[in-house]
This record gives sequence, structure tokens and C-alpha cells, in this order.
Amino acid sequence: MSPPASRKHHPRSRPLPRRVPVLLVLALAAAAATVASAQLSSEDYYDASCPAALLTIRSAVATAVLLDRRMGASLLRLHFHDCFVQGCDASVLLDDTAGFTGEKGAGPNAGSLRGFNVIDNIKMLLELMCPQTVSCADILAVAARDSVEQLGGPSWTVPLGRRDATTASASLANSDLPGPTANLNGLLNAFANKGLSTTDMVALSGAHTVGRAQCKNCRARIYNDTDLDAAFAASLRGSCPARAGGAGDGALEPLDGSSPDDFDNGYFGNLLSRRGLLHSDQALFGGGATDGLVRAYASDAGRWGSDFAAAMVKMASTSPLTGTDGEIRVNCRRVNN
Ligand code: HEM
Ligand SMILES: *[C@@H]1O[C@H](CO)[C@@H](O)[C@H](O)[C@H]1NC(C)=O
Repeated sequence: MSPPASRKHHPRSRPLPRRVPVLLVLALAAAAATVASAQLSSEDYYDASCPAALLTIRSAVATAVLLDRRMGASLLRLHFHDCFVQGCDASVLLDDTAGFTGEKGAGPNAGSLRGFNVIDNIKMLLELMCPQTVSCADILAVAARDSVEQLGGPSWTVPLGRRDATTASASLANSDLPGPTANLNGLLNAFANKGLSTTDMVALSGAHTVGRAQCKNCRARIYNDTDLDAAFAASLRGSCPARAGGAGDGALEPLDGSSPDDFDNGYFGNLLSRRGLLHSDQALFGGGATDGLVRAYASDAGRWGSDFAAAMVKMASTSPLTGTDGEIRVNCRRVNN
């Protein structure tokens, strides 16, 4: 075939007309897929208003993870703890003030959440480039995706257009975030309350393939649970003392002892060998309805990766503030004046 004929099929001057109908169909399908995400826009949301926004977040996350690999885990968890409390509205980032109690002091968050300074730095850069344009809630969603990618996990496209809350709720943080002693029903309920399925719950739990938990959150399990490997328990007891209340409470244990900082499917393999660190981790594989899914993810990293990515998009579209609701905070730690 001659080059001119070939060019006729791919005219450089008008590449769009053929693609627009396809994009429209995809956009409509995506909009119909979940009600909660209907209001969010595509990832090009800031392309005109703040063209370097995504690149700025990506490079800041890459630097933070290079300096402290655990930070990738911490940023991912920050987004989860945002979305499960009032929706993905950056409520988790608000500091307490004299007249305001936020979520940072709630049980699941106090002395545990990390990464606030990384978000502050990103916000500072974005405010210099394009004032009051990129929301703190969108920064959290993109930073979570970029963190997973930095740690070697899957990637996905992040719908954008969230706005920031002017309120927060310590009581919802205490009631809606699942705790480390939860059993399978408790976990399923907590996720169902956010519109997330059994598959979403199991796939998202695979986030515990990275990061650390404090001794106080796994102590009861490693001293008293019976559904765990004996050698695994013995080695953990070496660094996590039985007595509560001392400095040992904060001793850090890897959530995935087989590859602590790699975003792989090792977490599910651990569950098969009864090496889940938290009681709530092992609850996914203990003779209940999710055993099959755990086995599938342990043997098929690709399937888990795509289920995880899909579930992250779902979780990230929990009750967002859009349009004229909420605001674009100037400082992620406080509401605008
Ligand atoms: C299924 C219910 C879940 C429970 C009960 C749970 C509970 C916990 C607990 C107790 C810790 C340790 C906190 C500490 O000791 O300071 C932790 C850490 C972590 N969680 Fe979860 N979590 C759950 C689901 C998730 C989900 C859905 C994600 C993200 C998609 C996630 C991401 C993380 C990460 C990355 C860490 C480590 C953070 C770090 O090292 O800074 N978790 N989780
Ligand atoms: C283990 O169980 C016993 C008996 O219920 C209890 O007294 C003890 O405090 C538990 N230990 C831990 C570390 O939770």
C-alpha cells in the first residue's frame, strides 16, 4: 500500500471526529456505572486551570517515597480514612482548633495517620502555581494512586473534581472506620455502608501488602488468637511485649512480613499460611465466604491488581462534594475564612 493511501486512513488534520462518539459512549457508560461517581469529572479536570497539577503531585509523591518508602503506604491510608468519613472531602486533614474538633484525634487516626506534611507541601506548590484551584480531596486521591504506582503496584485513572469540606466528624471517624479486631461480618458491613461490595472489600484489604501497624493493634492477636502460624506469632512476640501501656505499644510490625514495602499480592499468600498481622486481616481467610477470593488473589496478582484499581476508583467516588458545594481550601489544615 502506498504511503498516501495509508495517510488517508489516518488524517492528521482531523483525528477527533472518529474518536468522539467512542469517548461519549465510554463517558456515558462510566456515568451510569455508579451513582456516586456521576458528579466527578475525568482526569483532565485541571488540564486548563492547572496544567502541571498532576505532574506536581506525582513528583512530590515520588520524592517522598524515595526518602521514606513507608510514606507510600501512609498516603494511601490517608485517602481511605478520608473517604470513609463524610466521603472523599479532605475532612481528615482539618486540624483541631479551640472551637473545632476534627478527625485527627479519633481512635483510628490518633498517633497513627502519617503524611500530612507531604500533602501540605503539594498544596503549597499548587497554590503558588494556580491559587485556589486544586482541592485537597483531589490531591489525596491522586497521591494515593501515585503512591501505589511508586511501590510497584497497579495504576489507574482518577476521576477528579472533588471539593473540600468545611466540616469534619470525629464521631463518624470512630463509627465508620473498621477496626483491627473486626470479624468478617463487621468488615463486610463497614464497606457495604459505603456502597462497596465483598469483592471491593477483599481487594482493598490487599492495601495491607505495604505499611506498618503498631504493636497495640496486633497484640491481642499474636498472644491470644489461635488462627495463626506458631513461628509467626513467636517472632512477633519478640518485638511486641504482652504488657499494654508501655513504650512497646508503638513498636512497628510490617503488615506484610513477606515483602513489607512492595505492592504485590504477598498479603494474600500470608493469609493462606495464617500470617495475617491483624485479626481483621486473617478474618478474610478463616472458613468464611471470602476464602475463595483470597485464594484467587494469592495465585493471580493480575486479577487482584485490576480488582484493586477498580475498587479504588469506587472508594474514591464516595459522596464527593462537587459543583458549588464545599470549597477549594487554601490550606488543607483549615477551612477558608
Ligand atoms: C478492611 C478493614 C481495615 C482495617 C480493620 C484496617 C486497619 C488498619 C490498622 C489497625 C492499621 C495500623 C495502624 C497503626 O497501627 O498505626 C492499618 C494500617 C494501614 N492500612 Fe488499613 N485497615 C483496613 C483497610 C484498609 C484499606 C481499605 C486501605 C487502603 C486502601 C488500608 C491501608 C492501610 C495502610 C497502607 C496501612 C499502613 C499505613 C502506614 O504504614 O502508615 N487499610 N490499617
Ligand atoms: C489474652 O486473653 C486473656 C484471657 O482472656 C486476657 O487476660 C489477656 O489480657 C489477653 N492478652 C492480650 C495480650 O490481649
